[in-house]
Amino acid sequence: MQQNCKNVYITTPIYYVNDVAHIGHAYTTIIADMLARYSRLTGSKTFFLTGTDEHGQKIAQSAEQRGRTAQEYADEVSGKFRTLWDDFDITYDKFIRTTDEEHKIGVQKAFETMYNKGDIYKGDYEGYYCVSCETFFTEKQLIDEQFCPDCGKPTNIVKEESFFFKLSKYEDKLIEWYEQNEDCILPRAKKNEIVNFVKGGLRDLSISRTSFDWGVKLPESLNEPKHVMYVWLDALMNYVTALGYGNDEKNMEFWPATSHLVGKDILRFHAIYWPAFLMSLDLPLPKHIAAHGWWTRDGEKMSKSKGNVVNPKEVADAYGLDAFRYFMLREVPFGQDGDFSQKALMDRINSDLGNDLGNLLNRISGMSGKYFDFKVTSKDVKKYHQKELDEVETLLENIEDYLYKMQINRYLEDIWKVLTIANKAIGDYEPWAKMKEGKEEEAMALVALITNIMARVSLLLDSVMPEKIAKIATSLGVEISTESYHKLIKDKELLDDTTITKVEQLFPRIEEILLEQAPEVKKDKNEVEVKKEEPSVEQEDDNLITIDKFFETTLKIGTIVEAQEVPKSKKLLKLQVDVGEGKNRQVLAGIKEFYSAEELVGTQACVVANLKPAKLMGMLSEGMLLAARDENGLNLIRPEKPKVAGTKIS
Ligand code: MSP
Repeated sequence: MQQNCKNVYITTPIYYVNDVAHIGHAYTTIIADMLARYSRLTGSKTFFLTGTDEHGQKIAQSAEQRGRTAQEYADEVSGKFRTLWDDFDITYDKFIRTTDEEHKIGVQKAFETMYNKGDIYKGDYEGYYCVSCETFFTEKQLIDEQFCPDCGKPTNIVKEESFFFKLSKYEDKLIEWYEQNEDCILPRAKKNEIVNFVKGGLRDLSISRTSFDWGVKLPESLNEPKHVMYVWLDALMNYVTALGYGNDEKNMEFWPATSHLVGKDILRFHAIYWPAFLMSLDLPLPKHIAAHGWWTRDGEKMSKSKGNVVNPKEVADAYGLDAFRYFMLREVPFGQDGDFSQKALMDRINSDLGNDLGNLLNRISGMSGKYFDFKVTSKDVKKYHQKELDEVETLLENIEDYLYKMQINRYLEDIWKVLTIANKAIGDYEPWAKMKEGKEEEAMALVALITNIMARVSLLLDSVMPEKIAKIATSLGVEISTESYHKLIKDKELLDDTTITKVEQLFPRIEEILLEQAPEVKKDKNEVEVKKEEPSVEQEDDNLITIDKFFETTLKIGTIVEAQEVPKSKKLLKLQVDVGEGKNRQVLAGIKEFYSAEELVGTQACVVANLKPAKLMGMLSEGMLLAARDENGLNLIRPEKPKVAGTKIS
């Protein structure tokens, strides 16, 4: 992202079509989507590009192994990527495929231009090639004289006629560019690696191959039908051919790119080859090339052979797309490697989203409804809450800078600090006490303060969780628009009078029990046990509920007639409980650490008997036992003396 930029152009890498999309692909795409959405909200003219990289030896081989033509295979996998991004509501402006005719024409035009400039010459290549990385290596670079230093797979010896790009000619110019543009490569640590690499000397780059034909042909003017272009030259050019380079040039107004988002493994191609090609073509250089780290799973590298690759669709289906987006953007500092675990994801959902954000909305709707018939006016906010407003302003003042530097996690951390101010203010000012004291104006000022904070947060989080934020905004009566962004974020104005509407709970709590699922992410949605609504503000603030509310829960005495351990579960026991219905209920209780199965049989407990059945680890649970837990452990709540099974507790 770039500050105050009229046109913003954001790109993801184009994904190889030899694999289905995994969490790594989703990560880059979600970051890019977030930046593009944010940029549009601020009013910048924005172009967001993604697509697929379809040529090269790797794809040709994968197709052959499947008995398909390369084109058929590419069509199918490219379609899957596109469908996934559509399912994820990714707001790309163009989905480019390197097999698109216009792209091929653009690449040929670029080759011809570089050739005519004298930057391309014909020679013979002799060296090693890693098909998996589509990269050339010298013998010195190999591990144990054979293996790819990047992916560890065996390399092939290549000896063929090839065209070369005079990369060495651009060494000094590249160094000059790095030195004069502090943030051209982000994060800085990665930039230093690149600068050192280039200072170590660059060799000319082989940019054509003759040993296979699945690639873009060289321009006809060269009359070299045996050659196809090196897949990285073909692929990198997508960033300009997508804008019409070599064709109608109709979107070239977006060039140079604001941010090329890439994974750390492909930074060298983007930070060395790509600017050198652009220099040769006399095109301006991108503003930022931002390299993110890699995701592991439960601490381990993901790989197809280990079967631990995280499928982003399954995660989003199980936990919700917005929660997944939030997790990806918040969990790891940009540039560092991150670990995906269900526990970390659930913690984010329950704590950040459920407690800090979702609950705040419940509190606004509860307080405004109970005290003010859902009407909120900002008229006295400054009178009573200038201090909180100033604290919020200070945090939000420079928050966008984090986005310009790709520190999205820090952007989110500061938004959460703003939410903390709001949650704390409720505790500090106790609007329910103010109401009891007849200080309605003060109570209203507090409710309005929280509503204003929530409105600002919504504008800043819209790009992160568009679906949930749309609901929050509707509930607050706020429009997510460029106009509101300018009014509330830039000009720091307060909301006009508004009416709150109730919404369903946005981030239902996900039970800890989910952790005990097998490591497979794939799971039945029913297994995500959802707790009942968080207490509404009326209950929370006054600590009182009506008797009717209490009797909504049916509590009964149950006799545990059978108990078994649940294999592979640290916490669960499977119980058969008689609650006086003629037929036992199966109850899965997370008490294995505190009770053995044997000692439970024949004892009694208090059972919540009207809970919706839920599946835990694929097994049905038809009730819940009451228990109390403190630092000395957990105890079941039991009747003092035995009671008939099914006796109602009241
Ligand atoms: N086709 C090239 C890119 C050409 S761009 C002109 C390519 N494709 S890829 O499909 O193999 O990788 C696409 C992106 O996914 C890369 O940025 C890579 O870093 C990223 N990731 C692949 N595995 C990853 C993780 N486990 N974690 C995070 N990102 C990872 O390279």
